[in-house]
Amino acid sequence: MAADKVLVLNATGKVGRNVCRALLEAGFEVHGTTRSAGESLASRGIKPVVCNYTLRADLDRAFEQSGAKKVFVITDFFRAAKSNVDREFQQGRAAIDAAKAAGVDHLIFMSVADAECFDEHTKHLKAKVELEKYVRESGVPHSILRPCAFFENLDDAANWNPLKKGVVSFLTLQDCKYCATYDIGRAAAILFRDREEWLGKSLDVIGWQGDLKQVAAALAKVSGVPVKAKLAMPIFLRRLFLNDLHHMFLYYEVQKGPRGTPEAFKKVVPDALSAEDWFRFHGRYSNDEKIAAEIGAR
Ligand SMILES: NC(=O)c1ccc[n+]([C@@H]2O[C@H](COP(=O)([O-])OP(=O)(O)OC[C@H]3O[C@@H](n4cnc5c(N)ncnc54)[C@H](OP(=O)(O)O)[C@@H]3O)[C@@H](O)[C@H]2O)c1
Repeated sequence: MAADKVLVLNATGKVGRNVCRALLEAGFEVHGTTRSAGESLASRGIKPVVCNYTLRADLDRAFEQSGAKKVFVITDFFRAAKSNVDREFQQGRAAIDAAKAAGVDHLIFMSVADAECFDEHTKHLKAKVELEKYVRESGVPHSILRPCAFFENLDDAANWNPLKKGVVSFLTLQDCKYCATYDIGRAAAILFRDREEWLGKSLDVIGWQGDLKQVAAALAKVSGVPVKAKLAMPIFLRRLFLNDLHHMFLYYEVQKGPRGTPEAFKKVVPDALSAEDWFRFHGRYSNDEKIAAEIGAR
């Protein structure tokens, strides 16, 4: 029997690449959008679809070219929407409308855990709330995945936080809920497979919980090197220069959100990655040096 086709939007991003990987491992035929037809997707077994995932006309072509009736939808406030809530909403609406026109039988929308609970200063999550409503009212068969903070933030050179030997930095030292983008993909594979069970439902993607010292301890265990936990910037600078994110972290630090738990997520993905698992999975520091000698490619 031919494998089910899935179209993954923004397949070259932090989420997209690991969602593609997990869907491929689960046996799907994976088509991924990218604006340029480089070799990077094809070399990983993904069928590249040249498409700007924010544009309706491109999306229509992507559905037609791939023939996929399943789609994983991502939107992005900071980069593709250039920090504009309306623009991010329009991106998501274009994807949902294109999926409807293409007769998609299962759309998974990636939102954020507790999206509706953040205060008015946390602008980067506002379009997610509106898009959840839009997809629910669209008539498109759908499910919603709601991830918490990505482990990938711990090695994010594009946002001035490359992972270096002996130190782990983040914007909070406090207890935080994390997930691996790979587990977003593993959850998506389960939802696509058990379509009837998951239609109209949402799932919080939360793999592990701990403070930055515990994250550092996990890296120390995997690397065999002592690791310091360090704030990426003092809190007053976080408030001054990253006010939107600062308010998101206040929800984590003061209100102890998001409400979901790793235990609940593990009922669906029992082997969800812990911090230690994620450092092993990730495999390398930002300068490409291996984290542990026995670890292979990421
Ligand atoms: N960071 C977290 O902890 C966290 C937690 C929960 C949810 N999220 C959500 O994750 C989403 C971000 O996903 P991500 O991290 O995977 O994104 P990402 O890594 O920033 O995506 C990068 C890709 O976006 C494409 N791109 C860049 N600029 C673009 C533009 N102007 N127009 C169209 N495409 C453009 C590029 O692909 P090509 O050049 O190949 O086209 C690039 O490879 C956001 O919605 C965020 O809210 C993040």
